[in-house]
Amino acid sequence: MNLEEFAKQILLSDRLEDKLFVPESFEDERKGLWLRAQVGSICAPEQPGRPQELVLGSKKKRGSAFPREKDLHLDSERGKVLHFFANHELMALELMALALLKLVDSEPGFRLDIARTMLDEQRHLRLYMQRMHQLGVDFGSVPVGDYFWRNFRSLQTPMDYVCGLSLTLEQANLDFAHHYLSLFQNVDDPQSRGVMEQVYEDEIQHVGQGVKWFNRWRNPKLSQWEAYNRGLHLPMTPSRGKGLGFNREGRLRAGFEADFIDEMEILTDHRGRPRRVWLYNPMCEIEVGRGQEDRTLPKLRREAVADLANLPMFLSNQADILYTNRPPAKSFLRAWKQRGLFLPEIVTARDGKLDGKELESRIVGGLRPWGWTPAMLALQKRISPIQTELEEGWPDLSWNYPQFRGLYGKHQILKLRRLLRERFKRFPFGPELVDGGLVSSMREINLWRERISCELQLNTVLKDPFGTAGMGQLRLEPDRALSSSEQGWVCKVLANHGQMMVEPWVKDVDDYSALLMVPRGGSSKAVISTTRFFTDLRGQYTGTLLGKMTAGMEPERRRDLEYETHGLSIRKLIPLAGKEAARWLAEQGYFGPAGLDMYTYRLPGHGAKRFLKPAGEINYRYTMGHVAHRLEQFLAKGAWGMWMPVGSRLLVQRGATDFTAFGADLEQRFPAHLSSEMGLVSGVLFTNEPEEARQMLGVMAAGAEAVNDLIRGTGISL
Ligand SMILES: [Fe+2]
Ligand SMILES: [Fe+2]
Repeated sequence: MNLEEFAKQILLSDRLEDKLFVPESFEDERKGLWLRAQVGSICAPEQPGRPQELVLGSKKKRGSAFPREKDLHLDSERGKVLHFFANHELMALELMALALLKLVDSEPGFRLDIARTMLDEQRHLRLYMQRMHQLGVDFGSVPVGDYFWRNFRSLQTPMDYVCGLSLTLEQANLDFAHHYLSLFQNVDDPQSRGVMEQVYEDEIQHVGQGVKWFNRWRNPKLSQWEAYNRGLHLPMTPSRGKGLGFNREGRLRAGFEADFIDEMEILTDHRGRPRRVWLYNPMCEIEVGRGQEDRTLPKLRREAVADLANLPMFLSNQADILYTNRPPAKSFLRAWKQRGLFLPEIVTARDGKLDGKELESRIVGGLRPWGWTPAMLALQKRISPIQTELEEGWPDLSWNYPQFRGLYGKHQILKLRRLLRERFKRFPFGPELVDGGLVSSMREINLWRERISCELQLNTVLKDPFGTAGMGQLRLEPDRALSSSEQGWVCKVLANHGQMMVEPWVKDVDDYSALLMVPRGGSSKAVISTTRFFTDLRGQYTGTLLGKMTAGMEPERRRDLEYETHGLSIRKLIPLAGKEAARWLAEQGYFGPAGLDMYTYRLPGHGAKRFLKPAGEINYRYTMGHVAHRLEQFLAKGAWGMWMPVGSRLLVQRGATDFTAFGADLEQRFPAHLSSEMGLVSGVLFTNEPEEARQMLGVMAAGAEAVNDLIRGTGISL
């Protein structure tokens, strides 16, 4: 029989007998004109021909429940499972027929492979129909889905065929067939099991054939996994190549590389939603300040950034993409997956540059950088030219550098402080002088110093409006003359930015943060959470408390936090201030993640009384607090803890030679004790790999013992 005739009959006939017709032999005389003649170009019919009761995806029929495993002792339920598989076989058959009709110019051997596979699928279909019938379920009595038909019928190339059909639909069948094979065994149905066994063995061959052609045609510079990802067209995604259970053995036998199988195994289902790309660019503020990417970062800093590059995997709560130049080990990822983390797919930037090369052939729903910069906006345009998620927030693509710069300046906080004082008039924020101001000359600096020293008996601090936490600031004691290098620094900052910030140096007592996600339109849910965090003497971030804000807190501190004036305590005010800040950010056109840091302070002459500084700092990006907040979901119910990115200084202080030794010691003394829901009750977990860490190791500790050990020598007092 002519292959085209055979294919046409299977695709178009609405009689099962025609679809199951087995020719004695094939000849492949390719005219390829039929589909062209039918619609003017090569394109598939809307629907394959089907008997009335098997018409695909009719809406009112959709959504019939798939049998539950505990009901499989019932004939009818096993019959329904087989019905599902029978439809899969029929659809595979029709899609293969379609491929033969569309891919008229492909290699003869490939076409013959398809034809031979079709004979197998016919046999599978017959086997399923027979067994279903014995179990009292007729083909057509259960509604059938059309996912693969809808998404595959536009195939254009042999590569589309192998990726979409052999390596996706049939790969998933390796899981399904294997899974039900043992389930049918459990309910003592050897006949159904026998059917599954035959199908399973054949499907391994089918997938193997796909892998063979795929390997022949794919770009040899890419791994199997990368080439597969590029070969699929949305909404088809690798997760569609997984069924129930994960069958490694079948995949190995089909000829997949071990790496490919690992990737498949840790993949989380994302149901075809375009994925977002996450990346860690913590130098965003400095870049915006300088107006260019910082390529002169000192080695230590660069290593610290690389150590924490996987942090966004804790922020993405769906199966997204983490774009990094340091991919975490599979074993590390698997362990977090077991604890319930929705793993992103890891895409590695080969030459260390996160310029989007590796993402070009994918359709992604947008970029989620740690912080937005002009470079990130350009990357977003490159990888996702059509912005699909404006409603969710994030900068418009029309943003430009002056807008960024205007926003990122640290002096913006002065406006917010004023706003909060106005909004919460009766709240004890302390003297207004504490809020500080802007200066543009040495003379103004001196005037401020004088006032601060006379009225508050405090030191003065000068701040570069584009410095980062703890850097780019100068503390001045009263009457101390500036050294020549300090004068040089002041002149440089003033020359660069025209102005700098001046504030009294108040002793901060406690640091809190309102974590924000500023949405487009309305700020009702802008405050995600409020956390307590810790800084060192230089004002640099040290760690965040996990669990209730007052967990482990000294009673006196707690009293101060809860003490109410005019019905408002510090604790109540922080989220309210966060809400105000979110509204203010939205007014300026900023949407997306942000953090409002606030701290309490003491004043000379006021004893132990704590005031709240109205807005300490605002960060237009994700913050360590956002990460810590997401880590809380891995704590057991009622447990508390601390998340701390441990730096090499503490390492040395503890006498450890490297992070591997440091981590091993912690793990040995405080082994992770997990609840039945996989939440951390006590002990430690790591948020990056100790073996790979060079400057920073993220440690999550739970329970008083582990926490107290972790903060030893850091100056943190709970
Ligand atoms: Fe099959
Ligand atoms: Fe198959």
